[in-house]
Amino acid sequence: MNKKTIIGIIIAVIIIIADVVGYAMLSGNNESENTMQGGTNTENSTQVADSNTMESENLVNETTDEATNNTNTTENTTTDNQENVLIIYFSETGNTEKFANIIHDQIGGDMFKIEPVTPYPEGDELFDYTREERDENRRPEIQGTIENFEQYDTVFIGYPIWWYQMPMIMYTLFDNYDFSGKTIIPFNTHEGSGEGGTYEDIAELEPNATILAGLPIRGGNMQQDQTENIRTWLSELGF
Ligand SMILES: Cc1cc2nc3c(=O)[nH]c(=O)nc-3n(C[C@H](O)[C@H](O)[C@H](O)COP(=O)(O)O)c2cc1C
Repeated sequence: MNKKTIIGIIIAVIIIIADVVGYAMLSGNNESENTMQGGTNTENSTQVADSNTMESENLVNETTDEATNNTNTTENTTTDNQENVLIIYFSETGNTEKFANIIHDQIGGDMFKIEPVTPYPEGDELFDYTREERDENRRPEIQGTIENFEQYDTVFIGYPIWWYQMPMIMYTLFDNYDFSGKTIIPFNTHEGSGEGGTYEDIAELEPNATILAGLPIRGGNMQQDQTENIRTWLSELGF
């Protein structure tokens, strides 16, 4: 072998080694890119968690706006057996009831309307009465009971925002029934507070339930047809 051949072989070996090392580095990069993507996702959810102080682990994600503007991803939870769906709602002036009826029209299931044993006063008196109820952390009694509550896997829970939170009668509901192992899908109406942190409140009240992305709609907007808005949200949830 002359000197030229030896140099040629050395160059060839260097090229092969460079190729192998280069590929290894590239696949390493891809791997770390994947990991980073995973990391980024986690980071995103952490950001969601950070932006909602005290984010509970069972709150799958948060909807901060109406379905049309909802950019959050939603975990798919196709419910094959519609018989296992229950829609519970409380509605004093009818907005949340309309919302509940649209959900029911779309996906069926059973309904339970929360009604207080002692009816709420009407007009201006309702505001003073309910503020006092909240300040005193009362638990107004609910009429009747939900039959065969244990048979339901997926429970939609709807309410208006009262004094920046859920009406106290909703706390009675969570005191009276154990939602452990169930999937809760909150929905609410409001006049500016959005969901007001109530989905997080539910996640804390029911730590052993899974809370999916809820949907807040302005009460005033319930005067227009919200079917499409609600349909979009439901399909994002896998219904
Ligand atoms: C006593 C009372 C307190 C309310 N407090 C709030 C509130 O803090 N934030 C908000 O956005 N809307 C508030 N609202 C508006 C209701 O959330 C809104 O009108 C809702 O759509 C009513 O739902 P319903 O018709 O199903 O009862 C309040 C309404 C009442 C009657």
